[in-house]
Amino acid sequence: MARHGKLTVIGAGFYGSTTAMRAAEYDVFDTVVLTDILDGKAEGLALDMNQARSIEGFETRVVGQTTTPDGGGYEAISGSDVVIITAGLPRKPGMSRMDLIEVNAKIVRGVAEQISKFAPDAVVIVVSNPLDEMTALTQKATGFPHDRVFGQAGMLDTARFTHFVSEKLGVPIGSVKTLTLGSHGDTMVPVPSLCTVDGKPLRDFLSEAEIEELVVRTRNGGAEVVELLKTGSAYYAPSAAAARMARAVIEDSHAVLPVCAWVTGQHNVEGVYLGVEAEIGKEGIHRIHETELEQAELASLQTASEAVRAKQSDVANL
Ligand code: APR
Repeated sequence: MARHGKLTVIGAGFYGSTTAMRAAEYDVFDTVVLTDILDGKAEGLALDMNQARSIEGFETRVVGQTTTPDGGGYEAISGSDVVIITAGLPRKPGMSRMDLIEVNAKIVRGVAEQISKFAPDAVVIVVSNPLDEMTALTQKATGFPHDRVFGQAGMLDTARFTHFVSEKLGVPIGSVKTLTLGSHGDTMVPVPSLCTVDGKPLRDFLSEAEIEELVVRTRNGGAEVVELLKTGSAYYAPSAAAARMARAVIEDSHAVLPVCAWVTGQHNVEGVYLGVEAEIGKEGIHRIHETELEQAELASLQTASEAVRAKQSDVANL
């Protein structure tokens, strides 16, 4: 497919800048816009990325833009096909994602209002934490249809689970398939019944207790990185997931990915943003897949939906 379209990444921190870099290196977008409120940060990073073009061989142009809280500079995002929101504070050691809710809600709400003004037709992908709540808030603040606003979490949690299984068994990463649904937090729902190694059930290779150990490590996957880094949170795997999601939109690929999407009765859950498998295309969420789950997995998904439902309605008032 020819190179086309405009991707905007809001927030040029670790997550935003690596996402912009990956997206530019795909060489599928015409333009990648990177914005930040810190004066010159986005422009400097964009210049640096553009100077990599002759080495990495991509034509996509990266544009950096400083923005102000009252919307200054936002004209740079006009006509964006996809916008990824990464603006917000990351965790510090010992913090949960939920500890970020008040401060990040203010940032994300402000950003979402500018997106609705300057890029009213964009598909919006949210990555700021706490993810499920920030996704719900973005939909409310933009007023966009639910299908055009979704969040990145399931792809990352799934990738972490896949990595831990591959490491534990000493098998190539490409031979392992895993899946996690639910929330990006304590009520993440791993789906062992659909996990395979070389096409065979994961349960043929690992006991329930061993699988549970990997599930716990996956659930704490973000915190483990935060503890080691001491400042800031993970961004290589997260940005890989966000950039892939944006690519699925611009290429209208209809790839089925685990994402945080608005469910309307699938898995017997209604009216909440929840991690499910969905087909992604140019209009955002094309269709939610009702992946066949075991009874216990389905029950966990419903528990997760109740946990996030309460928080998501609170967030509207922040
Ligand atoms: N508009 C644009 N950029 C903003 C705004 C805003 N209103 N407010 C903050 N920023 C920018 C900061 O200036 C900073 O450059 O967002 C960037 C955040 O970058 P980092 O501190 O490096 O955080 P990062 O690791 O990128 O994480 C961003 O993603 O995974 C989540 O929990 C994480 O919520 C956090 C987000």
